[in-house]
Amino acid sequence: MFRLLVTGQKGQIGQSIKDRIDHREWDVLLTDIETLDITNAAQVARVFKAFKPNVVINAAAYTEVDKAENEAGAAESVNAYGPYLLALQCHHIGALLIHFSTEYVFNGRSHYRYVETDTPAPLNVYGRTKLQGEQYIKTYLSHYIIIRTSWVFSEYARNFVTTMLSLRRGTVPIRIVNDQFGCPTYAGDVANLALDIAKDRMAETNRYQLGEYNFCGDSGVSWFDFACAIFEELDKYQPGEQGRHLVSVTSEEYASIAARPRNGILNCHKISPIFRLSDWRRKLRHVIETTMA
Ligand SMILES: NC(=O)c1ccc[n+]([C@@H]2O[C@H](COP(=O)([O-])OP(=O)(O)OC[C@H]3O[C@@H](n4cnc5c(N)ncnc54)[C@H](OP(=O)(O)O)[C@@H]3O)[C@@H](O)[C@H]2O)c1
Repeated sequence: MFRLLVTGQKGQIGQSIKDRIDHREWDVLLTDIETLDITNAAQVARVFKAFKPNVVINAAAYTEVDKAENEAGAAESVNAYGPYLLALQCHHIGALLIHFSTEYVFNGRSHYRYVETDTPAPLNVYGRTKLQGEQYIKTYLSHYIIIRTSWVFSEYARNFVTTMLSLRRGTVPIRIVNDQFGCPTYAGDVANLALDIAKDRMAETNRYQLGEYNFCGDSGVSWFDFACAIFEELDKYQPGEQGRHLVSVTSEEYASIAARPRNGILNCHKISPIFRLSDWRRKLRHVIETTMA
């Protein structure tokens, strides 16, 4: 059996991978920050030496976009230095590294959907550190696949959907940005993709080439539209729960700490013939049903 190492198992994508692993196919080591802190060089080396993974899925990351503006060192450590250490170890033992990155590596000024080869120009610390992580992997490893995704939601941890659901009964209107666009993506679909890549590369069917792929939900919306979709689905599931009034605001009016790309829509033409893009609204329904049950 091939050996699969997963980092960051308690995050949205990490938990979704954990739920979907077929233990008849893989000898699996699921780790979290306690059992494998990806920024701890000695611990990373020890785990690799003991487990000798054939595939590593790195779901560990620093994902607090606003907080990162004041914690650049911490963000860089997890998003850049950690992937650097993983890349070195993967190179050393010939393992495949599957890593996740973000549309925040782009500045969002394009009028088109971003393709894999577009030039990155991040606007914030989080995006810069994620780009640095990508660059380390590309420099120190040839056997990697980077999946860039966006607006990840799930039944786990804190994300836009669970945040909106938790706010549903408040009395103050919810202000939501209406001039930043992206594609919501269900973490379970990202997990399925990562596991499909791992399986494909180990079976040497090689439908996936090494390198980068964009992958996100099948259509773009603004954060405001996304919030409306959440409350529409909630209303279908529990009529009368819609309660909160949503107010559309501009990025300037919202004034978040970190600047964010206006256009964060990824072009998925490279991956779509190999792996089906997800209908995020259907997945949203599933997350609402699971969270509200
Ligand atoms: N969330 C999104 O909207 C989004 C969008 C595009 C791309 N992505 C990318 O997708 C990937 C997964 O994101 P996610 O949403 O699943 O993130 P998440 O829910 O924030 O999970 C990240 C996990 O990594 C853990 N972690 C932090 N520092 C670590 C370290 N030094 N060593 C080991 N584990 C560590 C965190 O633990 P603690 O919670 O204890 O810190 C957390 O469990 C990331 O690469 C992210 O950049 C996410």
